Amino acid sequence: MKKVKNIEEIPGVGPTTAEKLRDAGYTSVEAIAVASPMELAAAAEIGEGVAAKIINAARELADVGGFETGDVIFERRKEIGKLTTCSSALDNLLGGGLETQAITEFYGEFGSGKTQIAHQLAVNVQLPREQGGLEGSAIMIDTENTFRPERIKQMAEALDLDPKEVLRNIHVARAYNSNHQMLLIEKAQELADKLRDTDRPVRLLIIDSVTAHFRAEYPGRSSLVDRQQKINKHLHDALRFAYLNNAAVMVTNQVHARPDAFFGDPTKPIGGHVLGHTVTYRIYLRKSKGEKRIARLVDSPNLPEAEVVFSVKPEGIRD
Ligand code: GTP
Ligand code: MG
Repeated sequence: MKKVKNIEEIPGVGPTTAEKLRDAGYTSVEAIAVASPMELAAAAEIGEGVAAKIINAARELADVGGFETGDVIFERRKEIGKLTTCSSALDNLLGGGLETQAITEFYGEFGSGKTQIAHQLAVNVQLPREQGGLEGSAIMIDTENTFRPERIKQMAEALDLDPKEVLRNIHVARAYNSNHQMLLIEKAQELADKLRDTDRPVRLLIIDSVTAHFRAEYPGRSSLVDRQQKINKHLHDALRFAYLNNAAVMVTNQVHARPDAFFGDPTKPIGGHVLGHTVTYRIYLRKSKGEKRIARLVDSPNLPEAEVVFSVKPEGIRD
C-alpha cells in the first residue's frame, strides 16, 4: 500500500484552501487528482486556472492521470474483487458476482427485489473471501427510508454471522433530497478514508434508490436536461468512489410505473442513457410467481445477455 498523503502536501494548497477542500469532501490527494477544474474551483473558491494546477500537482503526487502501460492496468484489474449475492444463478449472470471498481445497477418495478438485494449485499460484503465476500464494510445511502436492521439480522443469522457485528459494519445515511444525496458521496469518501487501514475497509457503496429524489424534484420534460446532468455527476462521483476504494457500487432504479406519451416504454429505467454510460452492469428485475424473481443482464460490454431466476426467501436472496 502507498503511504496516505495529506492534501497540504500538494504544491499550491495552503491551510485555507485545504480546509475548504476538505469541507467540500476532497479529503485525499487521490480525490483531488481525479476532480475537474470547474468542480474544484467552485469547492475551494479559487480560479479555474489555479484549480487546474492543483489537480496536476495532485496527479503527480498520487501518481494518477497520465498514460499507463497495459501491465499496470492488468495489475490493478487483478485487485478487482467479486461480491456474491447468495444466489449462484445471479452470481453467474454477473460473471461471478458484483465487481469492485464498477457500478452495478438493479432496475425494476416495485417489489421486484431491489432493496432486498441491497440488504443481502450489505451483509455479504463482510463475509470472508472464500465465501464470496470482500471482508469489508458497507455504506448505504437510503433515499426511501427502506433500510431495515431487523432484515439484516435475519440474513446475518442465516449465514451464521453475529448480527450485532454485522449491523456495526453497515453505515446508513438517509438522504433527504437530491442535493443531500450528492453530498453523502463526499461523506462516504471521508468515512472510507477513515476505515481504509482498519480490518473493515469500505468495499461496498449502495444507493437505494439512485433516481427517486431526482425524479421527484425534476418532474416533466422541461427539467429533463437538468436532471440528467445532475444524475450524471452523481454517478461519476459514485464511480470515482468505486475506483478510489476498490469497492463495489450497487445502485437501484425504478422503472416507470405508468407509461405516458414521453416515457413510452415501461421497461426503460429512469435516467435512461445517462445511467447507461456510467453504469458498468445493468440488471433488469421482474416479479414472477411467489418468491421467484427474474433477472436479466442488459447491455454488458463483456458478458452475454441472459436471464436467470432467483428467489427472495425469509433467509434472504437464494437460488
Ligand atoms: P421498490 O423499492 O418499491 O421499487 O421495490 P423493491 O424492488 O425495492 O422491492 P423489495 O426489495 O422491497 O422487495 C419487496 C419484496 O421482497 C416483497 O414483495 C416480498 O416479496 C419480499 N420481502 C421483503 N421483505 C421480506 C422479508 O422480510 N422476508 C421475506 N421472505 N420476503 C421479503
Ligand atoms: Mg426498494
